[in-house]
Amino acid sequence: MTKPPICDYEGSDYQKAFWEEGGREYEDAVEAIALRRLLPRSGKRLLELGAGAGRNTPRYAGFDEITLLDYSRTQLEQARARLGNSPQYRYVAADVYNLPFAPAVFDTATMIRTIHHLKEGESALKQVSQVLAQQAVFILEFANKRNLKSILRYITGKQKWNPYTLEQVEFVKLNFNFHPRQIRSWLHQNGFFINRQLSVSHFRVGFLKRKLPLGFLTGLDSALQWTGALWQFTPSVFVRSTLTQGAPLHDFAFQCPQCGNHPLKPVLADIICPQCGKRFPYKDGIYDFRLK
Ligand SMILES: C[S@@+](CC[C@H](N)C(=O)[O-])C[C@H]1O[C@@H](n2cnc3c(N)ncnc32)[C@H](O)[C@@H]1O
Repeated sequence: MTKPPICDYEGSDYQKAFWEEGGREYEDAVEAIALRRLLPRSGKRLLELGAGAGRNTPRYAGFDEITLLDYSRTQLEQARARLGNSPQYRYVAADVYNLPFAPAVFDTATMIRTIHHLKEGESALKQVSQVLAQQAVFILEFANKRNLKSILRYITGKQKWNPYTLEQVEFVKLNFNFHPRQIRSWLHQNGFFINRQLSVSHFRVGFLKRKLPLGFLTGLDSALQWTGALWQFTPSVFVRSTLTQGAPLHDFAFQCPQCGNHPLKPVLADIICPQCGKRFPYKDGIYDFRLK
């Protein structure tokens, strides 16, 4: 089986360039509101998929344990430098297509701005369903191909691809926008029951962001997010779903991404799979489960 390609953030200054200096205060604020609306107040073990430099991680403070997973080790190093080495956090470099966790070890997961980079989104969602416990909450954010701007561009002939068709669009290499119906169908097929959808980032337009006060735009977006229950025409959509299948929450353990052996004890040292002998390094507080 060929491995899906990975959008590599190794060495990227994404957090600084895109968020801290990129004029994205509005996007960050409205995403924080959506997360607050959808996330349980507290829980035992949350998995943050594609955590990057940990922009959202402080928003999960009500959870006992937070596992930050990202393919890029340097993103996790930045997250660790920002968040610290508290026992509340576990840093794991791994591929969302091949998660290194035993079944049913998380009661919550989030995937924000990450499916955006996945050519095979459904296969990643299947992996997520396997590491979640029954009744676990999963919050997925996706970039919406059927947004108002792409509809207008399509009907005025400025854009070739059709925003209404189900297939994902790759507008830049390894950057994908999805149709809301496609995402819903993948979630259903993998045992998720959708509880709530929010339309987010209604005013992601340079001109509006420059001319109108941040508080005003954020407040207006917040007031409109509920319309995601009726329609989704914003560039970003948040979906909260619950896993209807699987086992009750198990104690935390890793699983060998090479041979599937589990449970592997989460010792604070290199982890060696007793079945296939593969060694997974643990260095500077970060586990490395990437298969290269
Ligand atoms: C756009 S960033 C989003 C980071 C963070 N969620 C946020 O919203 O600030 C996408 C992240 O997904 C990670 N990523 C992309 N493909 C991945 C894969 N196959 N497995 C694990 N992480 C991946 C990238 O390394 C990057 O840090």
